[in-house]
Amino acid sequence: MNICFIGTGYVGLVSGVLFSDFGHKVICVDNDRIKIDKLNKGIIPIFEPGLDELVNRNLNSKRLVFTTDIKYAIKSSDIVFIAVGTPTAKDGISADLKNVYSASNIIANNINKYKLIIIKSTVPVCTGDDVENIIKKKNSSSKFTVVSNPEFLREGEAIRDFRYPDRVVIGCNNLKKTRSILEKLYEPIIKKGAKFIVTTRRSSELIKYASNAFLATKITFINEIANLCEKVGSNVEDIAIGIGTDERIGPRFLRAGPAYGGSCFPKDTKALIKIGKKFNIDMSVVKTVIKSNEKRKLLLADKIIKILGKSKNKNVGFLGVTFKANTDDMRDSQCLKIFPKLLKKGINIAYYDPTGKKKELENFIFRKSSDEIIKNSDLVIIHTEWDEFRSLNFNIIKNRKLKIFDLRNLYQPNTFANKNINYYSIGRKYYEKKA
Ligand code: UDX
Repeated sequence: MNICFIGTGYVGLVSGVLFSDFGHKVICVDNDRIKIDKLNKGIIPIFEPGLDELVNRNLNSKRLVFTTDIKYAIKSSDIVFIAVGTPTAKDGISADLKNVYSASNIIANNINKYKLIIIKSTVPVCTGDDVENIIKKKNSSSKFTVVSNPEFLREGEAIRDFRYPDRVVIGCNNLKKTRSILEKLYEPIIKKGAKFIVTTRRSSELIKYASNAFLATKITFINEIANLCEKVGSNVEDIAIGIGTDERIGPRFLRAGPAYGGSCFPKDTKALIKIGKKFNIDMSVVKTVIKSNEKRKLLLADKIIKILGKSKNKNVGFLGVTFKANTDDMRDSQCLKIFPKLLKKGINIAYYDPTGKKKELENFIFRKSSDEIIKNSDLVIIHTEWDEFRSLNFNIIKNRKLKIFDLRNLYQPNTFANKNINYYSIGRKYYEKKA
């Protein structure tokens, strides 16, 4: 099949590359010329484990093409994916759809044969109707179908998530023409066991938001339980196992930590409230989740301040600054809210991240390794769960005291029993050595 992806951001790039790896001819389009030039040289603009090898393999096989020529891409394709960004709009809550509408207008002007138009971007319910109307209005004689097909890729795990998803969701109001094409497109994935869920376009659009809001709720719930565990001396990990083994609840997304962040949960939960408002439905649970998640970042900053106590030495070193491990993405990273609060208290902050320096943190000291952070800090904060932080070398501190606040529970508290270290974690008993 000839496929094109409009938008070579995270979702468009990963999905486009993997469809080409399935043997389709894929054209990935973007209006950012510098990005396209780099991609054509095999240089990947994002950090995603395994993606560079796939890009280079499929570029070499000529199944994958990167271009800025959107007209050529649409005209050459049977299937046109819309995978442009839908960031939060200026009002601070809605999804900004200008990229989706602009892509729809260009598609309308370039339909030269039947096109299956698939919306992969995360869009509010009824956007598929808008896209259909835009194209019909501009080009009334054109033959096309607009389908919703949301993505559920996690950053850092995107290749695995694309190849082995739990489900493929398709939303289409006219399946007669499209079902066989879509089944063929997703055949390699369905064969491996993914459920193929077919529903209406509006339901499919809503599945994406409901899914992200539900996962955000699960995380926020366990984070609040963790707060309670710390007060009553329970262990949040045992609670997560204890509730997660009930199949009605499920074990995943119950890891207590430093609040959820990233490019999707914060944006999509807000957009869901806006969608509810449009249809006069109060999304009160989601509103509470957002509030609790925001509060959590400040609560953690307060805990850091408390751990440092009255000591004169207030050098804090963060290990990892992105919103989670295996990504270089700083969008809605928890530390962006924590740092300013610490700064106000006169605390010196340094950080190390395996993906390098961050422009968002240019006023803070960047150190080149975990060892450098450990050597130069009174309190080390484990902010993300990179594997390399699971075996840190604490022997380098020699005869000095060190405090560790492990926001990801990477270590067991008793690991530090015989060390000169006070260890704090999330939702578990603290290991605090008395002076
Ligand atoms: C998410 C969704 O999982 C994915 O399906 C969707 O398409 C895009 O958004 P992503 O944002 O890449 O993916 O990361 P994810 O692994 O879901 O984590 C989101 C945030 O929740 C991170 O800050 C992570 O640290 C946090 N999290 C996740 C927890 O705190 N605990 C958990 O148990 C899981």
